[in-house]
This record gives sequence, C-alpha cells and structure tokens, in this order.
Amino acid sequence: MKKILITGGAGYIGSHTAVALVNAGYEPVIIDNFSNSEKSALAGLNKICGREITSYEVDCLDRSGVERVFVENDFSGVIHFAAFKAVGESTRNPLKYYTNNVDSLLILLETMSKFGVRDIVFSSSCTVYGQPEVLPVKESTPRQLAESPYGNTKKICEDILVDYIKSGADSRIVSLRYFNPVGAHPSSEIGELPIGVPANLIPFVTQTAAGIREKITVFGNDYNTPDGTCVRDYIHVMDLADAHVKALAYLSDQKDNFYDIFNVGTGRGNTVLEVIQTFEKVSGQKLNYEIGDRRPGDIEKVWANTDKINNILGWDAKYSLEDSLRDSWNWQKRLSERIV
Ligand SMILES: NC(=O)c1ccc[n+]([C@@H]2O[C@H](COP(=O)([O-])OP(=O)(O)OC[C@H]3O[C@@H](n4cnc5c(N)ncnc54)[C@H](O)[C@@H]3O)[C@@H](O)[C@H]2O)c1
Repeated sequence: MKKILITGGAGYIGSHTAVALVNAGYEPVIIDNFSNSEKSALAGLNKICGREITSYEVDCLDRSGVERVFVENDFSGVIHFAAFKAVGESTRNPLKYYTNNVDSLLILLETMSKFGVRDIVFSSSCTVYGQPEVLPVKESTPRQLAESPYGNTKKICEDILVDYIKSGADSRIVSLRYFNPVGAHPSSEIGELPIGVPANLIPFVTQTAAGIREKITVFGNDYNTPDGTCVRDYIHVMDLADAHVKALAYLSDQKDNFYDIFNVGTGRGNTVLEVIQTFEKVSGQKLNYEIGDRRPGDIEKVWANTDKINNILGWDAKYSLEDSLRDSWNWQKRLSERIV
C-alpha cells in the first residue's frame, strides 16, 4: 500500500481526506500539532476506517520532528494541509500566519527532497482570485492582490511551488484551489471543529440552529446578485477529499518536474439566503437571522469553472447543497450531544 503523509491530518479537510485515501487503498500517515484540532478527530477517523491510522504529534515547523517521520516511513507522496486559516486573525497577527503557512511548506519541500519523495498536493484557495471580473472563474484567470495576510500566504506558497519547479526540481506538484468546503462525513464521526466564533457561514448557521448563537447576521443584501446576498461555491468535504485522491493518481502519471493547478468546486454558486432557506428545509429548523451591513473585504460573488478538473482528473462533485447542509447539521447535533 502506498503511504501518503497528510500534514494537518487531524483537521477538517485532512481527516476527511484520510478516509478517502483509505477507501482508495492508500495508507495515510498523519502529522498534526493539534493547534486547531482535537485528538478526538483521530478517534472518529479510526472508527470510520475500522483500524488505527498512524499519527504523530509533530509541528511542521520542527524540522527534526518532520525528518523523524520521514525516517520511519517510506512515503510515495504528501498532502500539505497544515496551515492557519482564520482570515481575521491573520490581519491582526500576520507574522504568525507567514511563519506557519510559508515556513511549513519550505521545511516540507526540503525534507521531501532529502528523502527522495517527489509528489505533493498543496491546499490552496479560491481566495487567490479575489473578485474575478469574469465568472465562473478559471485556473487561467489572473490572481489578484490578496485581501488578507492569510490569502497572501496561499499566493506566496503557490509562487514558491512554481519557482521550485522552474528551478528543475525533481518534484511533481498539484495545487488545489478549494472553493468553500462544507458538510461532514455522513457517519458524523468527523466534521469541522470551529474554535471560538466561526468566521464561516455554515458553522454559524448550524450553531445558531443548535442554540449556541442567538442569531445570524447576513452581511449585506444590496450586492449585484439574484437576492442581493453574497454568492459562494459550496463543496462537500467528501467530494473535496476525493479530489486529493484523484490528484495523487494524476501526479503518479506525470514526468519529473511537473506543476499544475485545479479549481475544486461544484461549478454552482449559491447566495447566503439560499443557504439559509435550504438549511431550514433539510433540518426542519427555523433560523433566526437579520440583514446587517456589508462586511469589509467580502467578495461579492465567486464560483468555479470546473471544466479542467472534470476533464483532466475525471473528478466531479457528487454531493448537493442539501446533502452538505444535512451532513453539517447531523455533525452539529453530534457535537452538541458531546457538550451536554
Ligand atoms: N476550510 C476552508 O474553508 C479552506 C478553504 C481553502 C483552503 N483551505 C486550506 O486547507 C487546509 C486545511 O484546512 P482545514 O479547513 O482543514 O483547516 P483545519 O484548521 O481544520 O486543519 C488544519 C490542521 O493543521 C494543523 N496545523 C496547523 N499548523 C500546523 C503545524 N505547524 N504543524 C502541524 N500541524 C499544524 C491544525 O492543528 C489542524 O489540525 C489549510 O491549508 C487551509 O488554508 C481551507
């Protein structure tokens, strides 16, 4: 079985990708420092997989710790999820974000080179597009100035990967630009664990329905969109996980020294009000929401053109918005049971 290192594998997308890798016959090995996750995620993961997934409590900035993991395992590839991701915090503490998100990639690339591991899938984001002029947005659409230090770390990391390949490095790399990951594993054993007040819509919706938050504020209803609220492309986390499996298989067919980028979205945009109405339908819960002012820095609308990933990786989103919101809600109910 091919061993794949998953950095940040106890986190939201990493844990679901570990499940997808096991289902596809790979052996995932996780490293995580649990700065934004809980060890209980590993228990949920083991339960779904029916066996213990190897994991190390290691910080990706600890070069000798990372090297130790490479000494103990013969990896055929790496998926690099480990990063900080809170946009607001990144504007208050940019150095924390630049250090963690950029240095972890550098240390990983150097370690991979030292141990002769060539293939890496990097977690990028649609944030690199800013507000695109033409929608749906394609991989060839020029990136824009980042709206936040977090977004800039994704641009910088993509640039590092491009320069690394240009230098002739014996490496094969895919950057996946995620749109808005939502949902949870249908078993509700793993899901998103927002620490503190969620900055993303879906955890806010499910926490409001669960009575943890009093109400949702919809930031602006005067945008140039069908109902005036912002539009995003919500992708189920299991579909996103599957894209990583497809990306690894794709890399294994490429020549040495290779780089490519794919959007990972559904190709459909939904407004905030559509999300709220769909959630109410699938959960049977009435949501308390109000319309507030626009939030500075919010993009009006963005959704993916998915032709490239559909045609080249043979990947397509299978889950609907209803599926995503139902799974998010079931996960929230599981979390609420734990607290009681
Ligand atoms: N969730 C999203 O909306 C979204 C969108 C686009 C891109 N991404 C990117 O996808 C990746 C995964 O996101 P997620 O939503 O699963 O986040 P997450 O916070 O749930 O998972 C990240 C994991 O990395 C770990 N981690 C962070 N720094 C580390 C370090 N130095 N060493 C070891 N472990 C470390 C955290 O403890 C956490 O378990 C990130 O790179 C993120 O920027 C996420």
